[in-house]
Amino acid sequence: MNATTPPAAQPMPHVMPTYGRLPFALSHGRGCWVWDTDGKKYLDGLGGIAVNTVGHAHPKLVAALQDQVGKLIHSSNYYQVPLQEQLAAKLTEVSGLTNAFFCSTGLEANEGALKIARKFGHDKGIERPEIIVYEKAFHGRSIATLSATGNTKVQAGFGPLVEGFVRVPLNDLAAVRRVAAENPNVVAVFLEVIQGEGGINVSTIEYLQGIRKLCDERGWLLMLDEVQCGLGRTGKWFAHQWAGIKPDVMPLAKGLGSGVPVGAIVCGPKAANVFGPGNHGSTFGGNPLAMRAGVETLRIMEEEKLLENAATVGAALKAGIEKELSGVPGFVEVRGQGLMLGIELDRPCGVLLNRAAEAGLLLSVTADRVIRLVPSLILTADEAAQIVAILCPLVKRFLSETPAQP
Ligand SMILES: Cc1ncc(COP(=O)(O)O)c(C=O)c1O
Repeated sequence: MNATTPPAAQPMPHVMPTYGRLPFALSHGRGCWVWDTDGKKYLDGLGGIAVNTVGHAHPKLVAALQDQVGKLIHSSNYYQVPLQEQLAAKLTEVSGLTNAFFCSTGLEANEGALKIARKFGHDKGIERPEIIVYEKAFHGRSIATLSATGNTKVQAGFGPLVEGFVRVPLNDLAAVRRVAAENPNVVAVFLEVIQGEGGINVSTIEYLQGIRKLCDERGWLLMLDEVQCGLGRTGKWFAHQWAGIKPDVMPLAKGLGSGVPVGAIVCGPKAANVFGPGNHGSTFGGNPLAMRAGVETLRIMEEEKLLENAATVGAALKAGIEKELSGVPGFVEVRGQGLMLGIELDRPCGVLLNRAAEAGLLLSVTADRVIRLVPSLILTADEAAQIVAILCPLVKRFLSETPAQP
């Protein structure tokens, strides 16, 4: 073994046991393929959980990062950071919004969004601002974002939760109207356009349009968490663009740096000036290395037409799965858009994570019974067909062998 060879997979006794991990370590990747330290090859249907936008070791991204590492990794927000302006300009161009704040992760972007909503309320004289959030939502694991999250497993053991949230079911406009009628302290609606961790639950176009209208009527902020569903994954730059609407606040992360930690809060005119000097900050946020990763990721997405690729290859992947599994007892549906797909079964199927890895396919299972595919946006039609060919027989065997739950 030389200095660059990672150690073979082994137990990690000094690392806190916060994750259930599969018993192997990945050593390197190329495109949509990764290899473990024993040399076994996997087709990556997970993309680092919707992170590796341009695949592994993309030559243009590698060259840009190597160049940046040799120049300046980190400076400080005490100074001008021209790459921040470059990335902010591109994000505002593709979103139609006006300004961006940079951080490093999804929870930070969401935490910042929640702060914007509260300050927006205080600036209007609302002393106890409240934010509408959703059943089955996931927004992160800080105390505020786990309080906004609609999953008691994520919250258990961390009370008291942050107050100021009102929870509603997704795609039920009447429920939001009821809250509006009863609660004068509401200042914002905060939702994922497609819920990721909650099981790939898609907001309908009519719902998004209805919520936008309600926010305008009520003077609320519309805050769309596009941490997982944004950045080209659904076939448009942002998932809400399918509904022809714009949010006031849009937290991003995951795919923005193709693996380098980059988060952002992108805002429109109603929210862009809520924070003033001293209201928010982040030591690492917007550092030159992270910004270069973001700029290069968006450049590659345009050059390689990855939005179109996500739409067409995603549609083929969905159709392939549907063809193989429809009519199979225990298969509920495949849903999602572009390269953000969930295959719902009628029973918990966590065991498929291991079985798929053994068969050479990486994926995840979320909300107990939903197989999630969020691969890199460079996935080819042939690779999509290989995912179908590996996964569907596994699912069929699993469903025939495992008793359905009442
Ligand atoms: C929609 C959404 N928001 C926020 C987060 C939290 O992001 P991070 O893990 O980078 O803090 C996630 C992570 O899965 C997410 O899917």
